[in-house]
Amino acid sequence: MLSEALAALRCPVCQGVFQLGQSQQLTLACNSGHLFDAAKQGYFNLLTGKGTVFEADSAEMVAARHRFLDAGHYSGLAKAVAEAAAVPLERPGALVLDAGTGTGHYLHAVLRRSDAAGIGLDISKFALRRAARLNPQAANLVWDIWRPLPVADNTADVVMVVFAPRNPAEFARVLRPGGSLIVVTPRPGHLAEIADRTGMLSIEEGKEERLADSMRGHFDSTRSFSLDLPLTLSGPEVADLAFMGPAGHHLQRGQLSELATLEGSVATTAKFRISEFIVS
Ligand SMILES: C[S@@+](CC[C@H](N)C(=O)[O-])C[C@H]1O[C@@H](n2cnc3c(N)ncnc32)[C@H](O)[C@@H]1O
Ligand SMILES: [Zn+2]
Repeated sequence: MLSEALAALRCPVCQGVFQLGQSQQLTLACNSGHLFDAAKQGYFNLLTGKGTVFEADSAEMVAARHRFLDAGHYSGLAKAVAEAAAVPLERPGALVLDAGTGTGHYLHAVLRRSDAAGIGLDISKFALRRAARLNPQAANLVWDIWRPLPVADNTADVVMVVFAPRNPAEFARVLRPGGSLIVVTPRPGHLAEIADRTGMLSIEEGKEERLADSMRGHFDSTRSFSLDLPLTLSGPEVADLAFMGPAGHHLQRGQLSELATLEGSVATTAKFRISEFIVS
C-alpha cells in the first residue's frame, strides 16, 4: 500500500519519479539524485529551499487535537467523510490524498473503509509524527498546500480537505478525470456557545458561496450536505477544542488554564458542511 502511494509522488525539485532506497533508513531518491530521508517516525519532509512564512501548528496544539479527536467527539464527521469517499475509492489501486491531514484522523477513517492507497500532506511536522504513527501504510509528507503538490497528474481518485487550505488548481491537476474533491468546512453557528470564551472566530454567512466561487473553473459541485453534532464538553475538552484550531496560535496559557478549570460541562453544537465536487 505504501509503495503504491510512493509511486504517485514526484520529486519536488525536478518532478522526476522516485525510487525507494532502503540502506539504513527509508529514502526517496529521484534519477537526478535528489534525496529525501524518512524521519524516524516514518514521514518524509519534502520541503526544500526557503521556508514558507507560516506558523505551523505546535506540538502542544497537535496534542490537543489528538486528545479531542481520539475521545470521539467528531466521530460522526469521520464516518460521514469515510462514507463520501468510499464509492470513488472502490476502483482497485485507488488513491486518496488528504490535504492538511493533521494528525491523520480523517484519513484513518477513510483508509479503514477502503483498500485505497493514501497520501497525507501537512506543513506541521508535529502533526505528521502522529499521522505517520496512525497511518503507517500512507505516504505522510511535510508539504505546503500552496506550492505545486509533489504528486503526479491524474493519479488521485479522491482529494479530501478537512478544515485546511485549498489549492483548487493543484487538486484538479492531481485528480483523475471524474475524481472527487471532498471539502469539510464549519457552518455559521459552529460551536457558537463557546466561541466568545475561546477566542474562536465566528463563521461568517456566505462562506459556502465563496467556497463554490473559489472552485469555479476547476470543479463542479455535485453534492453538499450539513452535519450537526451536539457536544457536551468538560472544561479541559473545551480548552483542547479551542487550542487545536487556528485560535490556538493566539491563545495565552492563562486563558487556556481558565477554560480547563471550568466547572461542570458545556453544551454546544459542531456544525459542518460536507461539499463534494467533481473535476470539470
Ligand atoms: C484545523 S487543522 C485540520 C487538520 C485535520 N484535517 C483535522 O481536521 O484534524 C489544519 C491543518 O492544516 C495544516 N496546514 C495549514 N496550512 C497549511 C499549508 N499551507 N500546507 C499544508 N498544511 C497546512 C495545519 O498544519 C493543520 O494540521
Ligand atoms: Zn529530483
